[in-house]
Amino acid sequence: MQLPIAVLVSGSGSNLQAIIDAAAADPSFGARIVTVISDRPDIRGLDRATAVGIPTRVVPWGEAPDRVAFTNAVCDAAEEAGATALVLAGFMRVLSKEAVDRFPNRILNIHPALIPSFPGAHGVREALEHGVKVTGVTVHFVDEHVDHGPIIAQTAVPVLAGDTEESLHARIQVEEHQLYPRVVKAFANGRLSVNGRTVIWEGETL
Ligand code: GRF
Repeated sequence: MQLPIAVLVSGSGSNLQAIIDAAAADPSFGARIVTVISDRPDIRGLDRATAVGIPTRVVPWGEAPDRVAFTNAVCDAAEEAGATALVLAGFMRVLSKEAVDRFPNRILNIHPALIPSFPGAHGVREALEHGVKVTGVTVHFVDEHVDHGPIIAQTAVPVLAGDTEESLHARIQVEEHQLYPRVVKAFANGRLSVNGRTVIWEGETL
């Protein structure tokens, strides 16, 4: 039985594509994308889903009266599609606590920095401005705080002399596209559990 997941996107959807490709290539991937949900129309991420026949839903941020209503609308859309877990892949809206209540330890997020450093919407730029020599990628479970939940996996990415936000983000994304499908597969195959802030792996970690 494959885990039915909803992937949430706000932009280009390159991580979504990596998950689509991994699922298509690997019979033991263990997860099936039942819907792709966006907070805005006309984004490449939605086109990527449509191109392979995955149903999409737009839950417009601007039409929700508040964050709780928006969050519940996103969760409703996921549940209506049959999803039992959410995979945030460049989703630029903060979900309220209601999402965690409805999908406890069943929401994954990817962040383009090494949490707890540089949370928020500008993790790449802020790492560069701070002058760190190493940054990277974090995949974590979502809790009620932004970019804060239990860490599942991280990959380090060196900051090179002359890096711009764009060049650094491009190298980070290469690692994201490797890491996220592997974590989704492990989660879908029931290999991850959470005890407090600690993620416990059954079998080998990545
Ligand atoms: C990724 O860098 C991800 O870490 C961040 O937003 C970006 C989304 O990229 N949360 P894409 O839409 O998957 O191409």
